Amino acid sequence: METPIIDFVMQYANGNKRRLHMPGHKGQSFLGPEKFDITEIDGADVLYSENGIIAESENNATRIFGTGKTLYSAGGSSLSVRAMLYLVTLYARNCGKENLIAAFRNVHKTYVTASSLLDFDTVWLYPAESQGIASCIITPEEVDAKISSMKKKPAALYVTSPDYLGNIADIAGLSHVCKKHGMLLAVDNAHGAYLNFLPENIHPMALGADICCDSAHKTLPVLTGGGYLHISKNAPCEILENAQRAMMNFASTSPSYLILQSLDLANKYVTDGYCERLADFCTKVSELKRVLKDAGFVLCGNEPLKITVKTKPHGYCGEEFARMLEKSGIVCEFCDPDHTVLMLTPQNECDLEEVKKAFLSIERRDCVITENAPSAAHPKSVLSPRECLFLNGTEVNAKKSLGKILCDLSVSCPPAIPIAVCGEVIDGNVMALFEYYGIKTVRVTE
Ligand SMILES: Cc1ncc(COP(=O)(O)O)c(C=O)c1O
Repeated sequence: METPIIDFVMQYANGNKRRLHMPGHKGQSFLGPEKFDITEIDGADVLYSENGIIAESENNATRIFGTGKTLYSAGGSSLSVRAMLYLVTLYARNCGKENLIAAFRNVHKTYVTASSLLDFDTVWLYPAESQGIASCIITPEEVDAKISSMKKKPAALYVTSPDYLGNIADIAGLSHVCKKHGMLLAVDNAHGAYLNFLPENIHPMALGADICCDSAHKTLPVLTGGGYLHISKNAPCEILENAQRAMMNFASTSPSYLILQSLDLANKYVTDGYCERLADFCTKVSELKRVLKDAGFVLCGNEPLKITVKTKPHGYCGEEFARMLEKSGIVCEFCDPDHTVLMLTPQNECDLEEVKKAFLSIERRDCVITENAPSAAHPKSVLSPRECLFLNGTEVNAKKSLGKILCDLSVSCPPAIPIAVCGEVIDGNVMALFEYYGIKTVRVTE
């Protein structure tokens, strides 16, 4: 696989040029990689133009992911989510559809900020049984029933899969439901770039999503900030044609060339024995999960490269469990009162034994913790995110916010999943979640 961006930058960096252009470091070492940190000079192309080395590299990624178009993001999935939602909204407006998206409630907060910028409406979909803030497992049949009962048909279904706890949604089934109702399927696959390379390709683009984003940096060896926006070959042509424009609307005009090189190199990496290494590593992780389960740990989620422990049955809250692992040198991705989450990639090959030892050194306590997370709230919305964006609001003690209208864009517990969204009325259930997740103050309308 060719690496046109890297090739250009190498040649430039080794060509003894005098840099009378940005960036200000002029290629001289400050942090370390400055020599390779260039800007959109002649020959280096412009991000989101039709021709040149970046477009060439993106075409390579398009072939690798088997999409209609794959574009690079140097602003992570946060940028791609905005572009994705812009494209959905544009499509809805141009095709006479409702300016309405049905979204599984466990969205990343970028969804909420995008809705305030783009001014579309959301109908939130909740699971039949509460699964905490981070998960929202809803079957295609349940989605079908909900959409069938709605008078206004949403233009798209928006799903976060995999979620932070490692649950993968039934994308093929959801795609089927979307087709039946004439809706687009948009997937926040920030955690799932690697799914494309498993022995059975379960990347959303392979299972019928129209559009999706990946944070390449989360699960591939790409620098932080590197991501993709993927558009399906089968997506409506308005979406394919406007994809570059959508990214340009929200992206910096100074994309990091270090990130672009990293994405370029990822194309080579994933086509050079990665699938075999990944398959082998997944087998090892699955074996480790079996050992941990046999030792009494309660694991959840079906994502191959996450280990998510429900820590309370072991007698610990998630934060305490994460601290115990840290004492053995294991730094987790995420913890909340109920879970500790480890994210692995084949780069962790030499860590597996230590992870096992660290887990097995944590003794199960006699008294399990029985306190459950309050069930997810379904607060009533009275103002749109757009209306709230321009309100000043007042900061109040979260304990005194009952009955008030939230005006923070979202109050999110880690990992950036909204407990409540701006414009919603804070009810008793929301208050209980604020308390549970340690939210001290919130901004409400005056
Ligand atoms: C589900 C989900 N979507 C989107 C994002 C934003 O991704 P990025 O950090 O790549 O901008 C995150 C970040 O953690 C995420 O977890």
